[in-house]
This record gives sequence, C-alpha cells and structure tokens, in this order.
Amino acid sequence: MNYPPASTSDSAPDATPAILITGATGSIGTELTKLLAAQGVPFRAMVRHRHEPATQALAALPGATLAVGDFDQPETVMAALAGMERAFLLTNSSEQAEAQQLRFVQLAQQAGVRHLVKQSQWAATPGSPVRFLRYHAAVEAAIRATGLAYTFLRPNLFMQGLLSFRDAIAQQGKFFAPIGDAKISVVDVRDIAAAAAAALTQPGHARKTYDLTGPAALTHAEMAAQLSTALGHPVAFIDVSPDEMCAALRGMHLPAWQAEGLIEDYAHYHRGEAATVATGVQEATGWAPRNFADFARDYAPAFAGDPVPVAR
Ligand SMILES: NC(=O)c1ccc[n+]([C@@H]2O[C@H](COP(=O)([O-])OP(=O)(O)OC[C@H]3O[C@@H](n4cnc5c(N)ncnc54)[C@H](OP(=O)(O)O)[C@@H]3O)[C@@H](O)[C@H]2O)c1
Repeated sequence: MNYPPASTSDSAPDATPAILITGATGSIGTELTKLLAAQGVPFRAMVRHRHEPATQALAALPGATLAVGDFDQPETVMAALAGMERAFLLTNSSEQAEAQQLRFVQLAQQAGVRHLVKQSQWAATPGSPVRFLRYHAAVEAAIRATGLAYTFLRPNLFMQGLLSFRDAIAQQGKFFAPIGDAKISVVDVRDIAAAAAAALTQPGHARKTYDLTGPAALTHAEMAAQLSTALGHPVAFIDVSPDEMCAALRGMHLPAWQAEGLIEDYAHYHRGEAATVATGVQEATGWAPRNFADFARDYAPAFAGDPVPVAR
C-alpha cells in the first residue's frame, strides 16, 4: 500500500498532476472534461466503449487520452490508474455503485493516487432512508479511512435532470415528479464540473466537503414558470404520486433498485430536506453559481430538440 503525505495535494504542484477522470462520458464528466481541455489541462479518461459517439467526442478534446476500463473489471481499472496522482470518482447510482466505488478506492490507493475527488450527493449520511445517500456516505467514510487527500462534492438535484423530460416538455408542455410544492436548491451541472476541475487542478481543496447548490431554492412550479419564459411556450409541472412515478420509471426499464431509490430521493426532497442554499460552488470555484434562469436560457434549444449546449 502507498500512503503519501496528506499535505501533498495541498501544495502547488510543479507540473500538472496526472489526472484520471471516471464517468467521463456522463453528464458531469462531459462538462468536466470540456473544462479541463479548455484550461489546457491534460487528463486520462476511463471509458467502457472506445467507439461510442460520446467517447469519440471525448477523444477529440485537446489533452485527452483514453483508457478502456470498467468498474466491474478491476484489472482494467488498475491499468487506468497506473501513474495517476489524482482521480475523479463517479459512477451512476446503480445497485453496484457502492461495491464499484469501494473497489476503486482500494485500487487507487494501491496505484499510488494521492488525491481522490469523489462525486457524492447532498445530505449523504450513513443512517439516511435514501439508499443513494447511504452508499455515498459509506464510500466517503472509506476514502477518509485511506488517509489519502480527498474532496467530496455533494451536489443537490441537477437542473439538467429536467432534460430527461425533453420530449414531454417539447411535445406536451409538461413534466412531472412526486414533489408537491417543496423547494429545492437545484444546481447546474456545469457548476459541479467547475468545482471538480478546481479540486483536481488547484491547491487548497484537500479534506474539503463542498455542498453544491444553486443560488435559490425553487418549487417545481417555479421552475416550470421560468422554463415557460425561456422556451416561449407554456410548460406545466404536474405533481404525481410516488407510485405513479415509480410505475413510469419502471416503464422506462429502470431497474427496481434505481426506481425505488429515486422515489426515496423525491420523498427526501418532499420533506423539504434539500431546500437550503449552500456556498460550496463559490468556495470551490470562486464564483457564484448559475441560477435557474441561466440554465433555462442556455438549454432552451436543447428542450426544442437541439443538441445539449457546450459549457462556457
Ligand atoms: N441526478 C442528480 O440530480 C444527482 C444529484 C446529486 C448527486 N448525483 C450523483 O451524481 C452521480 C451521477 O452523475 P452523472 O449524472 O454525471 O452520471 P451519468 O450521466 O449517469 O454518467 C455515468 C458515467 O459512469 C460511467 N459508467 C457506468 N457504469 C460504468 C462501469 N461499469 N465502468 C465504467 N464506467 C461506468 C458511464 O459510462 P458509459 O458512457 O459507458 O455508460 C458514464 O460515463 C451519481 O453518483 C449520483 O448519485 C446525482
């Protein structure tokens, strides 16, 4: 096992550290890799499929190199980690996520990684009734126990989550959730990516946990009103029951574990547990988070069927 000094990652590096990005083809990873490329920071991205369109776009970024790897194949993860000093850890929230992430942490330590930046979630707590929050808390605890430098990113609900309702918003002018009139301090994925980029490339982010939110807490009806303004046609929010939402998610072939986890997530939002506005984006990046109107304006073409816009 390799235990570098915990202070290493906090001192200004002489050269750009070797950085591994996992989850690089996902919503945060796409924005993060574009940011690193725009900043002239070289990185290695662990990808499952070399010939997918998302991977091809990634490979075309300046400074990008690819390592084909799968969280479920430890030897490929170890190969991706070889020579890396810092790593961004992100998986989607599947039933395998906790085991995948715990194995990654162990392998990263063996490979000599000095600083792990983990994509976690707002209110990650061991005793949470929300399974996603319990697994994130378990992985955070395992990372702390390694003695490695770490940064935990705990974002609230993503504004870009509304993109999964693109068709319903474009064709029927509506989206739905079991949320009532609870407020959520939703955050723009581009700000999460910026916090990750800062933690991976700048000194001063070791042993920090950033609660990442937007600048205001909004109800879904308020989001619908702002989307209506940006899109130029009425968009309505429809409150549905948890059972209706679960049936819709299962109808989209989401595995039961994930669908039930999302229902737990929405119950947590419904209880008003995600309404606090936090300062993590400002602390991590030095600038104020984007508001929902920024998101609605920038993504208006995507809601009309155009490709998702490039981060600025
Ligand atoms: N959605 C929210 O509102 C919200 C809020 C707070 C926190 N979060 C957290 O954010 C995370 C999800 O972030 P995201 O939306 O950016 O994820 P995402 O878009 O679902 O992307 C998941 C990434 O993981 C990769 N991946 C999946 N399985 C893999 C495997 N076996 N081996 C290697 N790579 C694999 C995917 O690669 P492929 O392209 O190969 O599939 C993709 O790049 C979760 O931890 C979630 O708890 C989400």
